[in-house]
Amino acid sequence: SDIEKGTYPHYMLKEMDEQPTVIRKIIQAYEGENGELAIDADILKALRAANRLYIIAAGTSYHAGLIGKQYFEKMAGIPVEVHISSEFGYNMPLLSERPLFIFITQSGETADSRQVLVKIKELGYPTLTITNVPGSTLSREADHTLLLHAGPEIAVASTKAYVAQVAVLAVAAYVTAKANGTGLEFDLKQELAIAANGIQTIIDSKDVLEDIAEDYLKIARNAFFIGRNIDFYVSLEGALKLKEISYIQAEGFAGGELKHGTIALIEEGTPVFALVTQEDVALNIRGNVKEVTARGAYPCIIAMAGVDEDGDRLVIPHVHELLTPLVSVVPLQLISYYAALHRRCDVDKPRNLAKSVTVE
Ligand code: G6P
Repeated sequence: SDIEKGTYPHYMLKEMDEQPTVIRKIIQAYEGENGELAIDADILKALRAANRLYIIAAGTSYHAGLIGKQYFEKMAGIPVEVHISSEFGYNMPLLSERPLFIFITQSGETADSRQVLVKIKELGYPTLTITNVPGSTLSREADHTLLLHAGPEIAVASTKAYVAQVAVLAVAAYVTAKANGTGLEFDLKQELAIAANGIQTIIDSKDVLEDIAEDYLKIARNAFFIGRNIDFYVSLEGALKLKEISYIQAEGFAGGELKHGTIALIEEGTPVFALVTQEDVALNIRGNVKEVTARGAYPCIIAMAGVDEDGDRLVIPHVHELLTPLVSVVPLQLISYYAALHRRCDVDKPRNLAKSVTVE
């Protein structure tokens, strides 16, 4: 069944391997009668009626939310705020006239997110939950649900659910943009299929990522992940994965922000993973890599084909510029996985963490 490991040593490895399939399932699940991507008419109506979206989430789901903000703003032209659920309760922003609240939660059970949902319902605003678990608390209690179709995720460190969240957010933003007549010039269905193949290519070269993990992280005390624009959000997720399962202190940083403090931490041999997928900021992030390298860092550039250069440690397949997170997160997941193995950590059940946190 779906929730057995089979021949896999860890659920996390199995779940990373499932990621291309998850994307393909999402394409199927969100295919309308005419073969175009579609979402439930009521949900589309709610999205179109809103003049601002408020995304509420925790952990990895929060990182997916940051990408979702880009999707709704860039594709559909709808302003979006993304909030950490545990902060939102007592630090509520001023709300727009017609808000729609979107809760992103793999489990649908996270207490921090649920307390926000309860409050928002009291205020009478419309709500949508994006979750992997049909019938979960946040799904039942929200007005609407979009499902992730990722299948059960067992490993504590979220991988396939993140990729599913990003893909479903892309679908929702794209369908809304199309309905609003925003002139999108690409076929998301086709681009998602290309991204699924791109993920597969990375998964098929796991040995390269195992080598990188050994080379950079076997004895590292800390590590940095840097990126600009959408790569910055993925670097946050890369750092979180590494912290969760290998216990290496890791930070995700916006490339340009390093010089305002964090660069002081760079020492001889400090691993710095840099994502380079966005053409418009490629030169800038490469400049940041030079800055840290000059201070002794051991850089690992992960670049997308088309913006790659000689000397990059890993080149990942080219995908649409908005969909790079689907592909660029995968090497970071695998590097974390192998780093944890090299350090003999319990990959599926890391210390101090729970898969779903039902206390505030
Ligand atoms: C826990 C898990 C994280 C997860 C977070 C949010 O802390 O360990 O992996 O990202 O909860 O979970 P949710 O189910 O709401 O996405």
